[in-house]
Amino acid sequence: MTKHWTPMIAAAVVAWAALGGAAPLSAETLEVTSPDGKITVTVSDDNGQATYAVRFEGEEVIAPSKLGMIFAEHPGFERGLAIAGATRTSKDSTWEQPWGERRLVRDKHNELAVTFGADRGPTRQMTVRFRAFDTGIGFRYELPEQAALQGDIAIVDERTQFSVGEKTTIWYTPSDEFNRYEYVTRTGAAGQVDDAHTPATFRKDSGIHFSIHEAALVDYSSMSLGALRPGTFEARLRNWSGGPKVKTKAPFQSPWRTIQVAREAVGLINSDIILNLNEPNQLGDVSWVEPGKYVGIWWAMHINDRTWGSGPIHGATTAETKRYIDFAAEHGFKGVLVEGWNIGWDGDWFNNGDLFRFTEPMPDFDLAELGRYAQSKGVRLIGHHETSANIANYESQLEAAFDLYKSVGVRQVKTGYVADAGDVVRVDDKGPRRYEWHDSQFMVDHHLRVVKEAAKRQISINAHEPVKDTGLRRTYPNWMTREGGRGMEFNAWGTPPNPPSHVPMLAFTRMLAGPMDFTPGIFDLKPNERPPVRADVPRGDPSNRPQTTLAKQLALYVVLYSPLQMAADLPENYKARPEAFQFIKDVEADWEQSIALAGEVGEYVAFARQGRTSKEWFLGAVTDESPRDLSLPLSFLEQGKQYRAQIYRDGPDAHWDTNPYAMVIEETVVTGGDTFAVRLAASGGVAVRFIPFGR
Ligand code: NOJ
Repeated sequence: MTKHWTPMIAAAVVAWAALGGAAPLSAETLEVTSPDGKITVTVSDDNGQATYAVRFEGEEVIAPSKLGMIFAEHPGFERGLAIAGATRTSKDSTWEQPWGERRLVRDKHNELAVTFGADRGPTRQMTVRFRAFDTGIGFRYELPEQAALQGDIAIVDERTQFSVGEKTTIWYTPSDEFNRYEYVTRTGAAGQVDDAHTPATFRKDSGIHFSIHEAALVDYSSMSLGALRPGTFEARLRNWSGGPKVKTKAPFQSPWRTIQVAREAVGLINSDIILNLNEPNQLGDVSWVEPGKYVGIWWAMHINDRTWGSGPIHGATTAETKRYIDFAAEHGFKGVLVEGWNIGWDGDWFNNGDLFRFTEPMPDFDLAELGRYAQSKGVRLIGHHETSANIANYESQLEAAFDLYKSVGVRQVKTGYVADAGDVVRVDDKGPRRYEWHDSQFMVDHHLRVVKEAAKRQISINAHEPVKDTGLRRTYPNWMTREGGRGMEFNAWGTPPNPPSHVPMLAFTRMLAGPMDFTPGIFDLKPNERPPVRADVPRGDPSNRPQTTLAKQLALYVVLYSPLQMAADLPENYKARPEAFQFIKDVEADWEQSIALAGEVGEYVAFARQGRTSKEWFLGAVTDESPRDLSLPLSFLEQGKQYRAQIYRDGPDAHWDTNPYAMVIEETVVTGGDTFAVRLAASGGVAVRFIPFGR
């Protein structure tokens, strides 16, 4: 718990006492403006209620909206509030990410911390700290230790409102349905939407874009948006089973509530406020956290080539793993993920998480030998802990499981929490099973426990079926990536598979939270049309397939950021298309700089990223169902300097459905400052590598 705000609270309490403990008759209004002057936050105690409002270039983005918090047994902060004091600071500093979408991050903001006192019931104070950046704002509640807030506190509601306007367009996934975050993004008028996960993305009629999310979700439950009345959402905190929303003690603080604002849609992407609102690295030297590309025994199970469970086509055998290790070593991949290696996969693993043993390999999987073999080839195994969301079973084995992986040279572990939303198993001190949500305070705490145990052994985490990302990778750089959205696997068995608009949608929605282990790079675009490997393991529905061109699969490596980036297809499918595979071998997974160049939500998006190691620039662009002509300024390249551009673009007659493999690979010379013109096919894409001359 940071206490740097204590002196401010003390000053506020003095001011509050000077007011005689009663709300002043006339409202006080305070403002804080972003450094560039475009975003203004107005804070008021009008009518005894704490409110805020946000304007961008003078236009209202969030109309006056309430702030507040209520507790089960303690007096809350809802009415009878008055501003008792305020402090202001400004900051302009630059910090370095150990890995990331850019190495240097600038944190430039103006801060206003407003303390509200309450005059009904016992005297008490709450501070709301606002930070205004050029790309958006953040605010959080800070509740100091005080006489009125003694003992265990149960938050029953956070009364933070977001009055966005009924007609404002929203892009969102529902927050209360069984498949956690894994929905095709929906859209509509904000006034028609009942509940939404964050990040939720909005566009006003005037064209201004904004996104509501949260940063630094620690020891608190996740926030989703619940309709309060048409056009006004209220922060909805996920509850404990049979309990309150958050269990805490004063002093405590909420996560930051964030509102990114930009005229253009890409402005939402070119923003670092989520990271800037997280605490700096707490792990010290993290040179052992290694971004990179990996392959794995994974897609084979999703397309029924192999099984997780034991039997004649068990995937995780010693021989099969060596085949992947050899492939990884030959083609420059750092990691080999192996799923289905341990006891517990036989039978209905989805519902039997208590059977998983995280220290017991299957008999046909020689973990020690494979750890040694991988390292002899300059590769490392990537571990896998599927828990089926049985947390009691997993936590009882956690330390031994990480010890084992460490002993065989594993540096990264993919965790998994397959279970319907609301079905996470918790067994508390008194024994009975309770069922929690994936975004509850219980799981927020669990994930950090895992991340910290892993860090002690220099292991990094890639969580599937996770809680959403709120930028904690800054504080815990070993929490590298996660799923938290519909990934590639839906194209093997999902109903429906991911539509052509999915990736240009993700870029402006899910990806605003942070990296995603989407697992790109499928080269056999009709996997379910292959004959089954065994008659008793049939393929899935042939209509399940990636609805993209081959060039779009390559573009995903630039568009969808993840510091652990998978080449997800089978080795034989890469060997069949070595020219296209070359791009996956060349592209990096860790970046010096990243720029979203152009795009519209769900329609198309183009990125340029500069590799952290090679310093080479890469460009990737994808489109939805509509073919598109793009003209992209090469302003990120050095002005006037010449580069060899290795281009992987859709062929003239390419189409995701009828002709997905048509791709032109060509090399041309471009000059920094030129415009790069390219045509994308229906659900197509382009990937480019720029090599400076003289190298
Ligand atoms: C769901 C994960 O997203 C997927 O990647 C994994 O293969 C399965 N669970 C099994 O753990």
